[in-house]
Amino acid sequence: MILLDGKSLSKKIRLHLHSQVKKIISLKKRKPHLVAILVGNNPASKTYVTSKQKACNEIGFDSTIIHLDENISQDELIKKILKINLDSNIDGLIVQLPLPNHIDEFLITKSISDKKDVDGFHPVNLGKMMLGAPSFLPATPFGIIKLIEEYEIDTVGKNCLVIGRSNIVGRPISILMSRNAKFANATVTVAHSRTKDIKNLTLNADIIIIALGKENFLKADMVKEGVVIIDVGINRIKSKEHKSGWRLVGDVDFNSVKQKASFITPVPGGVGPMTIVSLLQNTFLAYKQKINKI
Ligand code: GUN
Repeated sequence: MILLDGKSLSKKIRLHLHSQVKKIISLKKRKPHLVAILVGNNPASKTYVTSKQKACNEIGFDSTIIHLDENISQDELIKKILKINLDSNIDGLIVQLPLPNHIDEFLITKSISDKKDVDGFHPVNLGKMMLGAPSFLPATPFGIIKLIEEYEIDTVGKNCLVIGRSNIVGRPISILMSRNAKFANATVTVAHSRTKDIKNLTLNADIIIIALGKENFLKADMVKEGVVIIDVGINRIKSKEHKSGWRLVGDVDFNSVKQKASFITPVPGGVGPMTIVSLLQNTFLAYKQKINKI
């Protein structure tokens, strides 16, 4: 079994980005700048946004968090986004999801300039991705692809089961894995909450990408020998051994499934760090596209 070490791969990519930023600074150019909008006080969202800012700062990007009240109106939020769209000192803009119920996420995502949409959630970027044209790829699927490339996992013609059909992970990764590309070309099946007899599908899968949000869902008796496991789940469970009182586990029963897997991502330290570094890469791409145009 080989561990897909997202922590070390993300570090390698961050070091490379950091050296690029140092070059920019030595040329007295402005640094890449990511803005994250956080609406309300969802604790998980706060943690994610803070981690993104920390990652930006570590590699020398400028980063700004705009923290808005839970009750901000949709129109006010859109006004703020439109203002940032016009600000030539900002390269990337993300609005952390989920948003409060009175705000339409699709409308908000659509309001972000597709040139600054480093989350890759704008319909223009998703459309380009579907057509195989260059675009900002959503961070988690982009990170998964990079792990697969780094470990040169054979995906061609393989049965790839994606569990979960979210706009952020399941749906885009299913499209990317079926592309006509070296580390793709898989035969993809998407399973979701209405899927019947999921064990029949998991037992037939060569590659399983799971983004379900159910701790330890995938057990050893559900997978075949040699399976590749990509676990996107991040679930907090109570733990007396940890000072915080909780620890993170994925959607996969790691200790049992690893005995049968050829490759497997740990949680934490697998897909999570790759998601953040992909956001940094997209921000750097947005910056370069802007600078090259000026
Ligand atoms: N909520 C959960 N994942 C993400 C993400 O990748 N980007 C944003 N903006 N919100 C999220």
